[in-house]
Amino acid sequence: MKIKKVTKAVFPVAGMGTRFLPATKSIPKEIMTLVDRPLIQYAIDEARAAGIKEFIFVTSRGKSALEDYFDHSPELENTLRKAGKDDLLEILKETNMDSGAIAYLRQTRPLGLGHAVWCARRLIGDEPFAVLLPDDVIAAEKPCLQQMMEAYEQTGGNMVAAMEVPPHKASSYGVLDIAEDMGAIVLAKGMVEKPKAEDAPSNLAVIGRYILTPKVLSNLNKMKQGAGGEIQLTDAIAEETKTGKVYGYRFRGQRYDCGSKAGFLQATVAFGLARPDLREEFGAYLNDMIALQKAAQ
Ligand code: UTP
Repeated sequence: MKIKKVTKAVFPVAGMGTRFLPATKSIPKEIMTLVDRPLIQYAIDEARAAGIKEFIFVTSRGKSALEDYFDHSPELENTLRKAGKDDLLEILKETNMDSGAIAYLRQTRPLGLGHAVWCARRLIGDEPFAVLLPDDVIAAEKPCLQQMMEAYEQTGGNMVAAMEVPPHKASSYGVLDIAEDMGAIVLAKGMVEKPKAEDAPSNLAVIGRYILTPKVLSNLNKMKQGAGGEIQLTDAIAEETKTGKVYGYRFRGQRYDCGSKAGFLQATVAFGLARPDLREEFGAYLNDMIALQKAAQ
């Protein structure tokens, strides 16, 4: 079986980010920073490490800061160059994209994640593609999408990142119905969006990394024509469990839900403590905070 290489990735960033209002009234959620890097930078780095060459952003009104972020900034670069700040120039390089490697298109109405991915159909064409939700930040020795690509090279088909969650949390995720458990890789026979704890078919929840076949886009096409309200990506992938192959991949790493306030704060602490330049001072401060909290109880 010849498995086609995945070189395109879709970043759906058209959501309204209501959980972070009022900040997201004027700042795209994806530009909010973990330590000193915006969420979107973590997702781009992960995609690059996995061999992605074309980056497709599905945006909406009010996201121009996101587009500016990936532009060259000649004035800033000149100033830094004149001041001999080569280290900072090096950091800025991470934000540069090759000409033509990045595309922005608009989702004109927030009709859901499935609809956002469907909006990119013409740029994807008839190829497998990756989808990364920048809200999900994953700390891992080997980046999560790269792990998935390696597994996908053996399986082909569709692959979703999966992690174990306790039953009471299942209702926040799409959950896999497992046909065969092969360890890191599971074959799915179904996928249920946000089931109640008692209805969850397993404890394997899908998080925001996907490798998908173009068939998922045709499934979304039918849903777009038929359904009202939000168009779920989960439903279009679940459709493929009947005829095609859908695999869950238990990635190695720690995922942070940066679309929620608690998850964002947890990620800030974890990434702050992981930074050699901050670890000592920040760690000492956290210890003091914990001691103060305990004393106050
Ligand atoms: P969320 O469910 O987190 O929604 O979307 P949201 O609007 O970003 O945030 P809240 O819930 O209002 O706080 C998951 C991902 O899907 C994208 C979002 O940008 C995010 O990356 N999305 C969601 C779209 O691109 N379009 C949509 O219509 C909905």
